[in-house]
Amino acid sequence: MEKTIAGSPRDDCVSLRHSRPTERRDAVAPREPACLAVIRGDGIGPEIVGEALGVLDAVAEKFGHKFIYKEAPMGGNAIDRFGVPLPEESLKTCLASDGVLLGAVGGPKWDAQPPENRPEKGLLKLRNGLSVYANLRPAKMFPVLSAACPLRKDIAERGIDFIVVRELVGGVYFGEHRTETRDGERTATDVMSYSEHEIRRIAHVAFRTAEGRRKKVTSVDKANVLTTSRLWREIVEDVAKDYPDVELNHMYVDNASMQIVKEPGQFDVIVTENMFGDILSDEASQITGSIGLIPSASLGEPGRPGLYEPIHGSAPDIAGQDKANPIGTILAAAFLLRYSLGMETEAQAIEKAVSVVLDEGWRTGDIMEEGKQLVGCREMGRLIRERV
Ligand code: IPM
Ligand code: MG
Repeated sequence: MEKTIAGSPRDDCVSLRHSRPTERRDAVAPREPACLAVIRGDGIGPEIVGEALGVLDAVAEKFGHKFIYKEAPMGGNAIDRFGVPLPEESLKTCLASDGVLLGAVGGPKWDAQPPENRPEKGLLKLRNGLSVYANLRPAKMFPVLSAACPLRKDIAERGIDFIVVRELVGGVYFGEHRTETRDGERTATDVMSYSEHEIRRIAHVAFRTAEGRRKKVTSVDKANVLTTSRLWREIVEDVAKDYPDVELNHMYVDNASMQIVKEPGQFDVIVTENMFGDILSDEASQITGSIGLIPSASLGEPGRPGLYEPIHGSAPDIAGQDKANPIGTILAAAFLLRYSLGMETEAQAIEKAVSVVLDEGWRTGDIMEEGKQLVGCREMGRLIRERV
């Protein structure tokens, strides 16, 4: 089903592309030219996005595609220029695109902003505006980087390859937030709520993802304490009936955080609510070696653009020094090709190029080990580009 998006008039590229979390990814037909919204963001954002665009250009040249890039300012730089973290125009550009590539936003410069105007708020508004409810965050260790894994050697050697499917536009992130004075002192409240359809749609994404993998879903909740978790569990069990080939188990979030470092090999697909997913996906990324390597895809309904970003932050401490690892963003660009543009071969070409560069021993600072070759952000980008 194709649908145009209201309020997003486009001349050169009307968005008809599909992110299909609930369909097989090879069902997306490649179309030309692809129109990509680009959010460079703050801190190291512009550097890593620059390298990812270079890799996309190499793909375009090799496979004969045309990518049109549209800049969409967001984050602290947008606050500086337009007074708000997500200008209306940027959201429109993203809505009208075939996919959005994002670096990272935020930094100490904007820490004093009121909560409603922080750079992170721009990101949350964007996720909500795009209705990208399913956030896919893989935790997969490159075998050549097993030395960078902080876990015991025998655990690392058994391999780590799972994916966190995080609900992204509900829960406490999007509930009411308020501070009031009660009995002469301030009391703060954040509301966490989930409705059935919100749980059902993310559960479907998890089960379909598992169908294409090792067919195991672990649903993570806190059903021994939270009402939202009890509803979560009930709905996930109901959805599981549609996927008889996929095994389902439930785990409390505290136990899950322990199991991820104790026996990560037991996981295939973890599905969980927004905040638990935020926390567990950071933990999961770290055991693969470096947070700098992990891409993510945020997907909504068919016909809507997906959002693609590395899972790390804007790292203001190393911004502008050519030290950042661009691999997470480059792999996010591969996800964009796969999930939003239906370009599986091209996505694999990028993933292969990253593997080759790592096999050859090239390393940015965050994954450097003895005997390897240290390179900066630009050089890492160039090496990957050359091997596409
Ligand atoms: C992430 C980040 C964001 C989140 C922040 C920047 C709002 O930590 O993408 O994981 O909490 O979702
Ligand atoms: Mg996070």
